[in-house]
Amino acid sequence: MSLELKSPVNERAGIHIPPEVSNLDKPFNGVLCSQEGDEYDVKNNIIDLLGKEPAFTSIAQSTNHWKITAAIYEDIWRKRSLSLLSGEDFPIEQEHELLIEWTAPKKNGLYLDIGCSTALYARALKAAQKEADIVAMDFSSQMLEEARMKAEADETDLIFLRSDARDMPFFGKTFDGLVMGGTLNELTEELKVLYEARRVIKEDGVFFMMHLIKSDAWYGRLLQESIGLGGINFWTIDESNKLFKQAGFKVDEQLAKGIVCFTRLIPG
Ligand SMILES: C[S@@+](CC[C@H](N)C(=O)[O-])C[C@H]1O[C@@H](n2cnc3c(N)ncnc32)[C@H](O)[C@@H]1O
Repeated sequence: MSLELKSPVNERAGIHIPPEVSNLDKPFNGVLCSQEGDEYDVKNNIIDLLGKEPAFTSIAQSTNHWKITAAIYEDIWRKRSLSLLSGEDFPIEQEHELLIEWTAPKKNGLYLDIGCSTALYARALKAAQKEADIVAMDFSSQMLEEARMKAEADETDLIFLRSDARDMPFFGKTFDGLVMGGTLNELTEELKVLYEARRVIKEDGVFFMMHLIKSDAWYGRLLQESIGLGGINFWTIDESNKLFKQAGFKVDEQLAKGIVCFTRLIPG
């Protein structure tokens, strides 16, 4: 694996990522340096390009930075969430099948999980294609630490990156595929993130997206509007597709179950 990150402070400077960073058997600690000399800590294999805590603009954003949220997120909520939200039995294995079918991770391919939380999608991609390299990115240290523990337990090597999806530290056309599970709804500047996604994906790449759409029922809408005050946004399918188009993506496949929507996007 040879990954070159783009320095957050110098557009033209690269930061070389040594392959050992993704070997989770051995804790990797140290400092990585760009060609221009700016330095970034790596703690327990997690590359930190942000340093300080970001400023939170919503309740949803800040709870992702609590250790308790990170610890219970996957087992208590995420594994059951799609059955609850879609109104039908929707086990996590079924979601993974769709993820792998639509993403089709290739040998020696490079993939990015955007707003990975505990890296559920990143781990599933690596399990399906051992010879691909997967970057799991989030701006919450707490989520990344939990993700690192889960990946090590699964014997899954991933590249963990603490960074802001609104300003991705990658050069253009880096990735064969992008995946984003549920993150769109929590973003503060969704269009900025989608533009960044469009910039870093290769022209023949695929973008697997799972997001929640507006409920058809009045009581569902009422609930969603009150959740919206906490910083979680919902769109109709048409509104979502307009956003994707505006960012330069084309909808290639789409499947909605209740308020859960899966979309396979390709560069338009
Ligand atoms: C709903 S959770 C994602 C869940 C995960 N993708 C999954 O499928 O289980 C949203 C995640 O996105 C992260 N996030 C939100 N805005 C972000 C941003 N601007 N940059 C990086 N991560 C962000 C949050 O910290 C949180 O962990």
